[in-house]
Amino acid sequence: MSIQILGTGAYVPERILTNDDLSRLVDTSDEWITQRVGVKERHVSFDESAAEMGAKAAQRALEAAGITADQLDLIVGATVSADAVCPSVAALVQREIGASCPAFDVNSACSGFLFALDTAAAFVARGGIRYALVLGAERLSRIVDWTDRSTCVIFGDGSGAFVISPGENYLASHLHTQGSDSVLSIPLGKGNSPFYGKEEQPIAIRMSGQETFKFAVKQIVSDLKLIAEQAGVTPEQFDYIVPHQANLRIIDLAARRLGIPIEKFVVNLDRFGNTSSASVPISFDELARSGKLKKGDLIAMCAFGGGLSSAASLIRW
Ligand code: ACO
Repeated sequence: MSIQILGTGAYVPERILTNDDLSRLVDTSDEWITQRVGVKERHVSFDESAAEMGAKAAQRALEAAGITADQLDLIVGATVSADAVCPSVAALVQREIGASCPAFDVNSACSGFLFALDTAAAFVARGGIRYALVLGAERLSRIVDWTDRSTCVIFGDGSGAFVISPGENYLASHLHTQGSDSVLSIPLGKGNSPFYGKEEQPIAIRMSGQETFKFAVKQIVSDLKLIAEQAGVTPEQFDYIVPHQANLRIIDLAARRLGIPIEKFVVNLDRFGNTSSASVPISFDELARSGKLKKGDLIAMCAFGGGLSSAASLIRW
């Protein structure tokens, strides 16, 4: 298909929040979070917006790609935790890095980065785009309900980015949406409208953990099988899998159902938690910079989240 990855970058804010720190905020423990989720610590932003973090990841991806911001023809961003509904994170990143190309966001929650990547790939396939920046940037700490122990222990802040260009290394992709607001949602406030007929809810991530868990495992398994089939390979032939970093038990169960050793899955949720749309590009960037990758390696990426949505893509390195 239409693209290759020229460079990747990631950024997380400096401040670390440990499970012990969290146990002073809500009734939880390091033991519960480690066993049930797998997170040990996460980074939280005190003063950087999602767009500011996104710009830092973007700079690193541009450096890795060996190009400058003025060479970009397109920026596609993904986020659920921007400071504003508009301007988009992509537009603010454009200003911050000094680019001048069209820039917009897609919203598909934790699957957002892979939806954004596929969108950018379609633009590249249409022609006329030499370099595109795709990024996921999240300041989830801004919208988490810090009194709800079932969600606040999961999430973290950060950003990740790819620079892509025309190429032949994007072997397969699959996007899935199952419209629902009952399992996972982030409702907005009503402003000061006198014409609002529903009960107002404060902004917060609302999630049925077990329903999300079941959806996640089912979709990782079926989405990875689908992209393998599209590319004419089997999931066992994937060299690495970069999954959305939501819960170690989700990754473990999916790996067992697919018959793929867990060692092939990139896991860093113990250090970063769930950074929603930033989680796949942050993890991919760690893999890309680890020195482990060999030319020709097959790398699958998969994600799931609000929408409900899920996605998977296959790259040849
Ligand atoms: N510390 C201690 N106890 C807790 C905590 C906590 N942080 N959170 C919940 N519990 C308690 C519950 O109150 C419950 O207690 P009870 O039995 O006395 O009622 C018990 O632990 C079990 O609760 P469950 O909700 O059944 O716990 P579960 O094992 O399902 O773990 C979790 C919850 C971690 C949320 C899990 O369901 C999960 O990871 N789900 C998937 C979430 C996900 O992947 N989200 C990604 C998408 S996010 C997006 O798109 C923005």
